[in-house]
Amino acid sequence: MRAVNALIVERMHSPVALIPQLAGHIVAAGGKRLRPMLTLASAQLCGYEGQRHLALATCVEFIHTATLLHDDVVDESDLRRGLATANALFGNKASVLVGDFLFSRAFQLMVADGSLEVLRILSDASAIIAEGEVHQLLTSNDTTTTEEAYLEVISSKTAALFAAACRIGAVVAERPETDAEALDRFGRSLGIAFQLVDDVLDFSARQAELGKSVGDDFREGKITLPVVLAFARGNEEERTFWRRCLEDLEQRAGDLEQAIALMTKHNALEESMERARNYGRDACEALDGFADSPIKSALLEAVEFSIDRAY
Ligand code: IPE
Ligand code: IPE
Ligand code: MG
Ligand code: MG
Repeated sequence: MRAVNALIVERMHSPVALIPQLAGHIVAAGGKRLRPMLTLASAQLCGYEGQRHLALATCVEFIHTATLLHDDVVDESDLRRGLATANALFGNKASVLVGDFLFSRAFQLMVADGSLEVLRILSDASAIIAEGEVHQLLTSNDTTTTEEAYLEVISSKTAALFAAACRIGAVVAERPETDAEALDRFGRSLGIAFQLVDDVLDFSARQAELGKSVGDDFREGKITLPVVLAFARGNEEERTFWRRCLEDLEQRAGDLEQAIALMTKHNALEESMERARNYGRDACEALDGFADSPIKSALLEAVEFSIDRAY
């Protein structure tokens, strides 16, 4: 990861000063670097001993960072990784354009790697992420959104990159398709669990620990699983409340607290966590075919961390 972090800093460079300035802001703010770690660990789990995984892990983090820059514009967020977002500091235009730059850099790194298979996996994932974001745009402010539609959105916007990050570990190690599929399943299930937890944290986290604004999803009328469950179980009066807040975006002081109280009443947050634990178990099972090793334990620990995390 030290080598990957050095590559991230090196490759975000550009003579156009605003690029390293803005990219440097979000990169230096940290982040968990979970996806590049998954690429490195997956490659190691597959016995890979070369260097290609370093540039590819960098590429995965660049794709992730580009989506965050664009996401914070779309979501109008002002806090990320404990700091003001790039859009809050530099404006929407600069954020979108530097996001495009990082995304393009990611493709340069893939082409430099030279594997068409890797290029296919990561370009497919990129298209699916964008599709997921557009799909989500269609479900926002729509309280009739089903659990199935929600799962489709998070599988695309989040789990696709987790799956790709893991799968390319098997590809660089030239392992058979069965191993690539196992790692893909591991990443996909972990990614779904990760986003489920993220959507719970948006209601339940402590903002200082999360490093993002709590209640963002509610304020923008995003329909996540806790909302889907509470709405489905709510009486007519409760549904009127949800429609006013999330469809009409007519929100008053105390509404977020009321939303959390209704979720608690209907066990919606706890049940969303239970779903996350189920996907976490599936992720762990996906690795059953790999012999026990310290690196396998590390991957299993990543699942545990993703579920128990507070940030
Ligand atoms: C944030 O991802 C976007 C989601 C998929 C929820 P992370 O929580 O991995 O973000 P950083 O990189 O650690 O900041
Ligand atoms: C993050 O999605 C962006 C992608 C997964 C592409 P969210 O909007 O749900 O995540 P946060 O809460 O802003 O990190
Ligand atoms: Mg967001
Ligand atoms: Mg978003």
